[in-house]
Amino acid sequence: MTTINPVTDLTVDAGVAVLTIDSPPVNALSANVRAGILAGVRQAVADDAVKAIVLICAGKTFIAGADITEFGKPPTGPSLPEVQAAIEDAPKPVIAAIHGTALGGGLEVALVCHYRVAARSAKCGLPEVNLGLLPGAGGTQRLPRIVGVEKALEMVTSGTHVPAPAAAEMGLVDLLTDDASLRADAIAFARQVVAEARPLRKVRDLDDKIAAARGKPEIFAEFRRANARRFRGFDAPEYNIRCIEAAVELPFDEGLKRERAMFVELLNGNQSAAQRYYFFASRQVWQLPDIGADTPLLPVKQVGIIGAGTMGGGIAMNFLNAGYPVTIVETSQQALDRGVRTIRANYENTAKKGRITAADIERRMALLTPTLQMERLADADLVIEAVFENMDVKKDVFGRLDRIAKPGAILATNTSALDVDEIAAATSRPEAVIGLHFFSPANVMKLLEVVRGAKTAKPVIRTSMELARKIGKIAALVGVCPGFVGNRMLAQRQREAQKLVLEGALPWDVDRVLYDFGFPMGPFAMSDLAGLDLGWVREKSSSSTLREILCEMDRRGQKTGAGYYDYDEKRNARPSPVVEQVIRDFAAKQGRTSRVVSEQEILERCIYPMINEGAKILEEGKAIRASDIDVIWVNGYGWPVYRGGPMFYADTIGLDKVLETLRRYEESFGADFKPAGLLEDLVAQGRKFGDLK
Ligand code: 3HC
Ligand code: NAI
Repeated sequence: MTTINPVTDLTVDAGVAVLTIDSPPVNALSANVRAGILAGVRQAVADDAVKAIVLICAGKTFIAGADITEFGKPPTGPSLPEVQAAIEDAPKPVIAAIHGTALGGGLEVALVCHYRVAARSAKCGLPEVNLGLLPGAGGTQRLPRIVGVEKALEMVTSGTHVPAPAAAEMGLVDLLTDDASLRADAIAFARQVVAEARPLRKVRDLDDKIAAARGKPEIFAEFRRANARRFRGFDAPEYNIRCIEAAVELPFDEGLKRERAMFVELLNGNQSAAQRYYFFASRQVWQLPDIGADTPLLPVKQVGIIGAGTMGGGIAMNFLNAGYPVTIVETSQQALDRGVRTIRANYENTAKKGRITAADIERRMALLTPTLQMERLADADLVIEAVFENMDVKKDVFGRLDRIAKPGAILATNTSALDVDEIAAATSRPEAVIGLHFFSPANVMKLLEVVRGAKTAKPVIRTSMELARKIGKIAALVGVCPGFVGNRMLAQRQREAQKLVLEGALPWDVDRVLYDFGFPMGPFAMSDLAGLDLGWVREKSSSSTLREILCEMDRRGQKTGAGYYDYDEKRNARPSPVVEQVIRDFAAKQGRTSRVVSEQEILERCIYPMINEGAKILEEGKAIRASDIDVIWVNGYGWPVYRGGPMFYADTIGLDKVLETLRRYEESFGADFKPAGLLEDLVAQGRKFGDLK
C-alpha cells in the first residue's frame, strides 16, 4: 500500500489500482481529498503494472459532495475540474465504486469515471439545489446525457437521492453489487473491462438522450409551469433548469462554461449563503452544550398520550409511524372514537396518495390502544399530555398522572404557552417533567420545541431530543417563557399586523407583503385557516377587537366561508369589502385617521420586532444559539429558507440598520419597539448574531 497523502492511499491488486479516500465524516472533496485523488490517479497512470483504476471510499459513504465549509474561502490545492480531467482523460479505465451516498461533487466525480459500480443500498443525487446552488462540476451537463432531460430536470431541481437500483435502471450505474462485496466486485469488474478491452467511455461524448430534447423549448416551459409553486422565491431551481437547457443546446465545453458561471453567481448570492448556513444550523441544533453523550438515555418503549383532540391524535401518529405502541386516553367515549377515527382517516388519505399501503395502516392502528382510563398509562415510559390549554385542567391531569406513572417515566406537556414549571410543580417529580411542543398538524410539521423546565433532569432532556430524531422531527431545546421561542416571536408579528390594519393597511396588503417575502401565507390568511374563533366565547365577546367583531358576525374563517377574506366554494380567497368597511368603522370609532402604509413599513414592522424579540430570547438564555431560532422559524412557521431565518436575515441586513429602524419606530409607536440590550451591544461592538458563540 502506498500512502498518497493523509486522506488517500493506493494499493495495486494484480493489475488493478485501488485508490481509497478516507476523509471522515463524509469524504467531502476538501483540498486534501482533491490533491489525493489527483496524485493517486497520476501515480496509477504512470505505473505500467496498472491496467485499471478503482476509486473507492472508506467509512460510511462515497464522496458526499464538495466540502461546503470551503465555500467562500480562497481556493487552495488543485481545482475539482483539474481532478476530473485527470480521471476522464486517463488512458486506463477508471471505475467508481459507490456505497453510502454519491452526492453533488461526489456524483460529478463518479460521472467522469468511465464506469460506475454501486452497492445496492447506495444512493446517488445532485442535491446542490438545497444549498441554493447547482452542480458546478459538470453535473448538469453530464447527467442529462445519461438519464435524459426530464429525469435530469427532476433530479437537479429536487435534489432527490436516487436509490442505486433506480440509478442502474436510468443508466447511471453499470453494475449493482452486494454491499459487502463492493470492493471485490468492483475490482473484478475492472478486470473484465480490461480483458474485454472495453472503451474508455466518456459521458461528455454521449448525445442520443439530449438530442431528443433539442429544439423543444416547450419541455422546459412546461416543467417551469408545472413546478412554479414549488420553486416560488428560490433562485437555484431556475438556474439549474437553464443549465440543463444549455446542455441540450450548446456544445459540451460551452455548456460547462455556462454552468460554471451560473454556479459562481449562485455561490456569491444571498440565497445560497442562507441555505448553506441553514444546512449547518439544522445540524448544530442537536448539540446541547451542557448535556454530554455520557448523559444516560432512558428506555422508551411504550408511549401514552392524554387527549385525542387535534394535537393528541397528530402526536400519536408520529409514534405509531415509528413503531411505538401508543395508549391514548380521553374523557368520553365520543371524543375517543372521534380521535381514533381521525387518525385512521388521515392514514387512509396518505394511502390514497400512494405513500403508505393498506397493510401499513393496519400495522399502525394495531399499535394504538384507545382507553378512558388514565390508569392504563402505568406502563408508559413517556406520557404526553395534550388536553385543553387551561392551567387548572393541566395541573389536575399532572397531579393524577404523578400517582399513576411509573418511576422514571417522562411526563411531557404539549402546552403552547403555559408555564411548564408551574405544571411540573403539580407533581412530586418536577425533574421528570418537560415540554414537548409539537406544531399543528403534528403529524406533518417537522418542528418540535423541547422545553426545558427549571428542574428537568438531563437524561429526560437528552432522551426527548433523541426521540424527536427517531420520529423524524427537528428539535430545538428552549427555555420556559410565554410562548417559548416560536410563538413568543410570532406574537410580535401578530400584534403589529393588527395595528397596521387599524392605521390604514388592509389585511390583504399585509398578507401580500409577507407572502412576497416568502412565507406560504400572511397572518390574516393564516387566522382564517386556523379559525378566528380559537379561544373565542360568544358570551364574553364585547366587540373590543376586530377578531371579536368578525366572530360575532359569524365570519370565523375558511370553515364558515368568510373571515378576513371571503371564500368561494373552492376556498379561494377574495378581499372582502365588508371587512374593509368593518375595519374603517372600527378604526374611526377609536378616533384613528387612516394613512397610506408603505410596503417597506409593513415588512419592517412585522419582522423587526420579531428579530428584537429573538435578541431578548438570547439575552435571557431561552434559546441556546441564534441559529436555533432560525431553525425554529424555518421548520415551524414557513420562514423562507433562502433567507436563512430571522436572525440570519438580520445579520444580512446589518444589525446597525435594524437597530436604527427600531429606534425610529420606537419614537413613533412607543415601547413595542424598544431595542433589546443585546442588539445594542452587538451593534456597539460591530458584531452580528452569527458571531455569538
Ligand atoms: N461538506 C462539509 N461537511 C459536510 C458535508 C459537506 N458536503 N456533508 C456533510 N458534512 C458534515 C456535516 O456538517 C456533519 O458535521 P458534524 O458532524 O460536525 O455536524 C457531518 O458531515 C455528518 O453529516 P450529517 O449529520 O448530515 O450525516 P448524515 O449521515 O445524516 O448524512 C449526508 C450524510 C447525506 C451526506 C448529509 O450530510 C448531506 O446531505 N450532506 C450534504 C450533501 C451535499 O449537499 N452535497 C453537495 C455539496 S455542494 C457540491 O458538491 C458542489 C459541487 O457541485 C461543485
Ligand atoms: P383539542 O380541544 O382539539 O383537544 C383536547 C382534547 O383533550 C379534547 O379531545 C378533550 O376531550 C381532551 N381532554 C380534555 N381534558 C382531558 C382529560 N382530563 N383527560 C383526557 N383528555 C382530556 O385541543 P388541541 O388543539 O389538541 O390542544 C391540546 C393542547 O395542545 C393544548 O395545550 C394546546 O395549547 C396545545 N397545542 C395546540 C396547537 C394547535 O394548533 N391546536 C399547537 C400546539 C400546541
